[in-house]
Amino acid sequence: MSLEIDFAGLKLKNPTVLASGVLGTSAALMKRVFEEGGAGAITMKSIGPEERAGHANPSVLELEHGLLNAVGLPSPGYKNMEEEWNELEERKFPLIASIYGASVEEFVEVSKFVAEKKPDAIEVNISCPNTQEHGQIFGVNETASAEVVSSVKKEIGKIPLIAKLTPQAPNIAAIASACEKAEANAICAINTVAGMAIDIDARKPILCNKFGGISGPAIKPVGIKCVYQIFKAVKIPILGMGGISSGRDAIEYIQAGATAVGIGSGVYYQGIGVFEKVCREMKEWIKENEVKSLEEIRGCAHG
Ligand SMILES: Cc1cc2nc3c(=O)[nH]c(=O)nc-3n(C[C@H](O)[C@H](O)[C@H](O)COP(=O)(O)O)c2cc1C
Repeated sequence: MSLEIDFAGLKLKNPTVLASGVLGTSAALMKRVFEEGGAGAITMKSIGPEERAGHANPSVLELEHGLLNAVGLPSPGYKNMEEEWNELEERKFPLIASIYGASVEEFVEVSKFVAEKKPDAIEVNISCPNTQEHGQIFGVNETASAEVVSSVKKEIGKIPLIAKLTPQAPNIAAIASACEKAEANAICAINTVAGMAIDIDARKPILCNKFGGISGPAIKPVGIKCVYQIFKAVKIPILGMGGISSGRDAIEYIQAGATAVGIGSGVYYQGIGVFEKVCREMKEWIKENEVKSLEEIRGCAHG
């Protein structure tokens, strides 16, 4: 059975998507993840209005069941990526650009520029927990999330808009619904979960930034719950992510209601071959269970 899907108008050879931030922004690397790794689409590292160094090291830490990171949205800034955009013009893979800003105006400024580069979709990162001034403030509030989405949508026109949400929102389904009303074309859930680790011998927080975002296997149950709740609340498709590294993980997200599945930390643990492995394992499960299409199992856990 083919794993091809339509996600918010994007034709993907399979439902696996490189999550934003894990592999930087090099055009050559993105091409490799698609061609050699087998990903169905590629999300770029979030792009901001200005050049930003991110947080000092240590900024990524391996925990027992996941990663804790506070890379702090390092970005060359949209104006300093000309070479990369030129290389991406010739691409043969579906490209999702991810953007962030500290205000609605900044989101609009970045989206205007990025839309001219014609990515296949634009993901609006209203959910990063690692910087005080960016992201989180929007994603926990329905009105603020909707304002970012509708303002960016006005700028980018027909380009599909994906709103990336945070599990820190008290009611993520309500945020998703507000984004849908503001004309988002899809929802991405989830970004990392806020966390912290302390070096008890040094008696100090380990991350330079003190707090970070947890990703990987530890957050899969959080992601599954969020996707399940969002699926009930909206009609637009969901890109589910958080702790996916096997075909069974991907099927679990699809049964919760996801149309496509993102992989971030899984690349850190298993390399870019993780996409092909997840697809192979999904096909095996589908065959064993005599499933005819992904549509048949999408949201089936809702009964
Ligand atoms: C090192 C690192 C950097 C990240 N940077 C971004 C980013 O720039 N923008 C964004 O929207 N999400 C970012 N994320 C979050 C991931 O895209 C993803 O939502 C999260 O890690 C959960 O998926 P996973 O468990 O498969 O990693 C980052 C995650 C990690 C681990």
